[in-house]
Amino acid sequence: MKLSVIGCGYLGAVHAASMVELGHEVVGIDVDAAKISMLSEGRAPFFEPGLPEILRSAIASGRLRFTTDIAEAKGSAVHFIGVGTPQRRGENAADLTYVDAAVDALIPFLSAGDLVVGKSTVPVGTAARLAQRIEAGSDADLAWNPEFLREGYAVKDTIEPDRLVYGVAQGEPGLRAVSILNSVYASAIANKTPLVVTDYATAELVKVSANAFLATKISFINAMAEIADATGADVTQLADAIGFDARIGRRFLNAGVGFGGGCLPKDIRAFTARAEELGRGESVAFLKEIDAINLRQRDRVVQLVVDALDGNVFQKKVAVLGLAFKPFSDDVRDSPALDVAVRLHGLGANVVATDPEAIPNSRKLHPQLVFADDPRDALTDAAVVVVVTEWNEFRKLLPEEVSQLAQGRTIIDGRNCLDPDEWRAAGWTYQGLGRP
Ligand code: UGA
Repeated sequence: MKLSVIGCGYLGAVHAASMVELGHEVVGIDVDAAKISMLSEGRAPFFEPGLPEILRSAIASGRLRFTTDIAEAKGSAVHFIGVGTPQRRGENAADLTYVDAAVDALIPFLSAGDLVVGKSTVPVGTAARLAQRIEAGSDADLAWNPEFLREGYAVKDTIEPDRLVYGVAQGEPGLRAVSILNSVYASAIANKTPLVVTDYATAELVKVSANAFLATKISFINAMAEIADATGADVTQLADAIGFDARIGRRFLNAGVGFGGGCLPKDIRAFTARAEELGRGESVAFLKEIDAINLRQRDRVVQLVVDALDGNVFQKKVAVLGLAFKPFSDDVRDSPALDVAVRLHGLGANVVATDPEAIPNSRKLHPQLVFADDPRDALTDAAVVVVVTEWNEFRKLLPEEVSQLAQGRTIIDGRNCLDPDEWRAAGWTYQGLGRP
């Protein structure tokens, strides 16, 4: 099938290349000329394992091209909208400027029978509004097909999703949309991927409630970590033990410096704002608490560093291991790790931060920080070491080797990803979150 993908960020670029892998012919469209020129050369504008490989093979096959010209969407049967919906400046609500602009720009190039497919995460009610706009300006239909990909596993999550959700219109247009989407996702359908066909509002809500649930799970375990800290209990064992209950499950129960990234934080805030608009603010008022618990973890990690230095961080060297919001990503949007580095710098510490992938993005946002490509440079003469992104490189650090570089003997494990016994045996003071 001929597809267009409008918006070539984390979601769109992966979607475009993955759709070619599935046998389709795709044009990727974005207003950012620099991004388009990189993608056209088969280079990914961000770090995503497996993406460069499928980009290059897709371009070589002649079935993937990129352009800044929205007119080139004409002729495609399906048009995916994958632009960003960031948090509005100074507000909790989502900024829908890019979604609205993409749809408005696309309408003149839609042909009768085309299907516009929203993938961006939007406040409930957006699809119904956009459907009216599309209906007024064309003979195309709209479906809402939320995306559940995780950064770091984006290619796999797109090609082999764990479920498909189609939000479609009532009646004939809805049936047409289902049949078109089933052709787009023919391989996933053939593999018996669970499929939920529903209305627009449910499809929109599935996405935001999934992210709200994940955020709640993480903040739940971080709240337990706070209680564990007050009682000498071990939150990692607690997570294992409750996780054996299949109704609870062990995944997303890792306590630490908390969640960040371009999705979970802004999605729970946008959900709260939308619920308030709908007069149902109290239904999701707990998400404010989830947000607050999450942000407290950053305070806690900063405080542990301050305490380790007896309250005097000024001009003390602190090695910050990790900047990305999670491993296998160079994304530093709302990254707890970067936030910890910035706050310690603000307290006057001599912060030297390192990360295998996220230094360039961190430097763009915070040029005042000192970065080291080689973790050894961050560790050398450090008074305190703090791990805030659980990259394998940091998990595998050997206490004996770090002892030869660092001056101090305190390690703060902001991701509970190290073995406390190993570090203590080597003479270190180990401090995790919710771990004795
Ligand atoms: C998240 C969802 O997991 C995806 O399903 C969704 O499609 C995506 O948002 C989106 O809306 O686009 P992502 O932001 O890539 O994906 O990252 P996650 O893997 O969910 O991690 C989010 C944050 O939670 C990270 O900072 C991670 O370190 C943190 N986390 C995760 C924990 O602190 N503890 C855990 O146990 C798990």
